Amino acid sequence: MEKACNSHYHNQSLLLLPLFLSLLVAGLAYPTQDEQSQIISRFQQYLQINTTQPSPDYQSSTQFLLSQANSLSLESQVIEFVKGKPVILLKWPGSDLSLPSILLNSHTDVVPFEPSKWTHPPLGAYIDEGGNIFGRGSQDMKSVGMQYLEAIRRLKLSGFQPKRSLYLSFVPDEEIGGYDGAKKLAYSDVFKDMNVEIVLDEGLPSTDENYRLFYAEMAPWWLVIKSNGAPGHGAKLYDNSAMENLLKSIESIRRFRASQFDLLKAGLKSKGDVISVNMVFLKAGTPSPTGFVMNLQPSEAEAGFDIRAPPTADIESLEKRIEEEWAPASRNMTFEFLNKAEYFKGINVYESIIEAYTSYIPPGRDGVSRDEL
Ligand SMILES: *[C@@H]1O[C@H](CO)[C@@H](O)[C@H](O)[C@H]1NC(C)=O
Ligand SMILES: *[C@@H]1O[C@H](CO)[C@@H](O)[C@H](O)[C@H]1NC(C)=O
Repeated sequence: MEKACNSHYHNQSLLLLPLFLSLLVAGLAYPTQDEQSQIISRFQQYLQINTTQPSPDYQSSTQFLLSQANSLSLESQVIEFVKGKPVILLKWPGSDLSLPSILLNSHTDVVPFEPSKWTHPPLGAYIDEGGNIFGRGSQDMKSVGMQYLEAIRRLKLSGFQPKRSLYLSFVPDEEIGGYDGAKKLAYSDVFKDMNVEIVLDEGLPSTDENYRLFYAEMAPWWLVIKSNGAPGHGAKLYDNSAMENLLKSIESIRRFRASQFDLLKAGLKSKGDVISVNMVFLKAGTPSPTGFVMNLQPSEAEAGFDIRAPPTADIESLEKRIEEEWAPASRNMTFEFLNKAEYFKGINVYESIIEAYTSYIPPGRDGVSRDEL
């Protein structure tokens, strides 16, 4: 339930009304005026609940979601893996319990806002003449959470009965890492028992009429390279100073960055297919009371990089590049990953997702189960 690296769009206004409504399951009658205003009013209610980090009003959001669940006759539980941080889990039981379930996830919390920069109050859920709804979380991602619920409402009204169980999770702390919500849920027995086959979660807002589907995300790979070299007087020219060695690496990394960026600019690859590399810190120099000692070449220097690798990236060749070009021992350089464990976990996750998806065989040949997926 992490997200694509650039899914942090926090624009103020959302989707046009028709767009919102068109997400409701296709093939069903377009909602009547009366239904429309009820649907929008429920969305507004949710937007008006102040679930802004760092202290979201979980009590109100929980109450609201439970009342929605109740009106839809969904089973519900509130699970506090961490006290005060509720995960709301709703269930629409399927008719065939032997089939794995579907999980639709969303988060209840939203990022902070600066009210003075808004044309309408961020918690007001104001609708302008064009049908734009203004509210923090209207895109990220209260809209989606409500759309799940509204779709269920429509399906229930139509008499639809799912074969697979459908779960909805509303997690509390996605905007600050998801450690107390989604992460705890994913490792819980509750989750194991849910027997989930497919999870749908947050994506990117779209500025046109296309809905883009994302099936993978960039894994962060935080690299710190360090260089060591003989210290020396600032006036002396000599090889293999720590700074010189580090600069060679930085140059090489910059060339790689440019080559990836060129592919993107030329339209040969998309954002999710290139490896992004950005230098995020430089640490070197010998401090003095007024800044840095200016006539000494230091014996150590280091730099940090935020690398984002798509699941399709050739990881072995990237690792080789780091060992041989970016931080070679032959130049007295060392490197470490600040989050390598996390990174590997990401690979495992993608491995299992890709494996599961590519070997998936629909259980029945009738249209219903295919539509469902
Ligand atoms: C919303 O909650 C945040 C705390 O997370 C608080 O700082 C802010 O003042 C609240 N805004 C309103 C309008 O209640
Ligand atoms: C490695 O570090 C040592 C000690 O600082 C230095 O004498 C040597 O020149 C360095 N070698 C390279 C290739 O940077």
